[in-house]
Amino acid sequence: MSHSRPTVITGNWKMYKTIDEAVRFVKELAPLVQESTAQVYLAVPFTAIHATAEVAKSTKIVIGAQNMNDASEGAFTGEIAARMLKEAGAKFVILGHSERRKIFHETNSFINKKVKRALIEGLQPILCVGETKEEREQNKTAEVLESQISQSLADLSAEQLASLILAYEPVWAIGTDLAATPEMAQKEHEFCRSIVAKNWGSDFAEHLVIQYGGSVKPDNAKALLEQPDIDGLLVGGASLSVDSFSKIVNSQKI
Ligand code: 13P
Repeated sequence: MSHSRPTVITGNWKMYKTIDEAVRFVKELAPLVQESTAQVYLAVPFTAIHATAEVAKSTKIVIGAQNMNDASEGAFTGEIAARMLKEAGAKFVILGHSERRKIFHETNSFINKKVKRALIEGLQPILCVGETKEEREQNKTAEVLESQISQSLADLSAEQLASLILAYEPVWAIGTDLAATPEMAQKEHEFCRSIVAKNWGSDFAEHLVIQYGGSVKPDNAKALLEQPDIDGLLVGGASLSVDSFSKIVNSQKI
């Protein structure tokens, strides 16, 4: 089936780069990706959002955050609100990353509240889903993906979810150099799209951008993007160097 989905490549810096390092990176990256047909997103540490968003203003780079709290404001020491991210210059926010789910015990229902808050405040959510190695070995991949998608996006209409990006990140592929093969990733992307179609309709599903994440490198990016249901990439380690990230951004989808 033909579709007109954009290609969106997101770098997720995790807990790397000071303000100074981040600003230098954006200045170096900008001219290298200016002609790319892909949309270029960078999820930077909270402290670097404002400075990088200022530098990125005249470029095609879009700055966002890696997490946020679900409340509008309140007595939540150490947390950050969507409104604060927005004011600092963030346009999107990664939610439900497997590191948040595993290390910080985030549940689908908590992530659902965050997605709702992000949408209320006008931040584009990138919702991450993905199975662990154990879940895959126990043939639970479909079950896990279906529950993560339906529970994290519960009570939201297709209209409300219009800006959503979904990211399939198999946990066993993150930071391991063991990326899913393009065929394996395609199969799961197709499955995720079918779940989205079942819950929110096939028109919405056909327009939904689904990124793949997990050990994406310059040498596997193109083959992944060539798959019909892979509309973008969520890149961790390889987004930390201008050289490798610009190569990934410029490995166009045909
Ligand atoms: P790596 O690209 O380092 O495997 O990380 C993927 C990831 O977690 C992106 O969100």
